[in-house]
Amino acid sequence: MHQGHSCPHCGSDMDPIRTPLDSSWGGEIHHICFNDDCCYFLESWKALENQRIEKTGYRCRMDPRGGCGPAPVWSESALRDMVLKEDTEEPGSADCFGVQAFGRDDETPDRDFYTKPRFVDHLDACALETVEQLYRRLIPAGATILDLMAGPESHLGKVADAAEIVGLGLNREELTANKALSEYVIHDINVDPVLPFPDNRFDVVVNTVSVDYLTQPLEVFREAARVLKPDGIFITVFSNRMFPPKAVNIWKRGTEKQRVELIRKFFSLSGRLAIQGYYESVGKPRPKDDKYYDLGIPGDPIYAVWGKPTGK
Ligand SMILES: C[S@@+](CC[C@H](N)C(=O)[O-])C[C@H]1O[C@@H](n2cnc3c(N)ncnc32)[C@H](O)[C@@H]1O
Repeated sequence: MHQGHSCPHCGSDMDPIRTPLDSSWGGEIHHICFNDDCCYFLESWKALENQRIEKTGYRCRMDPRGGCGPAPVWSESALRDMVLKEDTEEPGSADCFGVQAFGRDDETPDRDFYTKPRFVDHLDACALETVEQLYRRLIPAGATILDLMAGPESHLGKVADAAEIVGLGLNREELTANKALSEYVIHDINVDPVLPFPDNRFDVVVNTVSVDYLTQPLEVFREAARVLKPDGIFITVFSNRMFPPKAVNIWKRGTEKQRVELIRKFFSLSGRLAIQGYYESVGKPRPKDDKYYDLGIPGDPIYAVWGKPTGK
């Protein structure tokens, strides 16, 4: 995929990345030269240092509409984790995550926890806007969508003309309140990770701020691949708030960056999904009218990893 771009400055192969959401580059896929010895990269650091702009350099970026431009970076590793990859590992097992990785403090049935609806905001308003923008960008018009682990809001309001949005969750009141849904299913995926849908049913599966509650994530990720059409997309969006008793141990133990790696592992160890993109929005200011504003903490971070079925 996306082969055949050479850096005009050093001749190295360039790698494809999806246009960052908060950039003004335009277009879908840009190619970046990640050669640390590229003269364009090395000279940009010196030139910017001379202008007293520290910790910034440029990598050479090939625009899909032709021509080159600068891709600003703040370290040698910046942007590397956005490189689109086709590779997947062979299907793996959750054993590699260690004993009790997917245990929880509260092992009572999830449906008991969700007997009462939880009409709470899981993210601040700015983070919610970021999620909506991301979904609008990644989800094509007219898509059939599964909102996996749906609550009262699907955050799909900016998606163009969805053909159908099916919610799968645990609480009927939450799902009835969700006006985006065309239909809903009550199904506990920690009891039975097999999704109650036929193969190739959806264009898109989204999982918003809920992946931390999955006790059998590899099975669920495989199921997401199964119910997706061959050119479908599975989008996981996550942040750092949670209901701690119901979040799995490995999630609670990890840093935010380790959680991103964990989700990447779920994709690759599923053996049925290839990661296509990654996005993060971290350190934005918290809106002044947010209930946690007085704590002086930054806004809720948003991380997203998405991929497509490999057809295996
Ligand atoms: C943190 S809320 C997120 C809701 C929604 N996705 C959103 O973005 O606002 C977690 C949701 O996951 C659902 N959920 C939790 N455990 C579940 C399970 N075992 N099976 C299916 N759904 C579950 C709950 O019904 C709840 O609405």
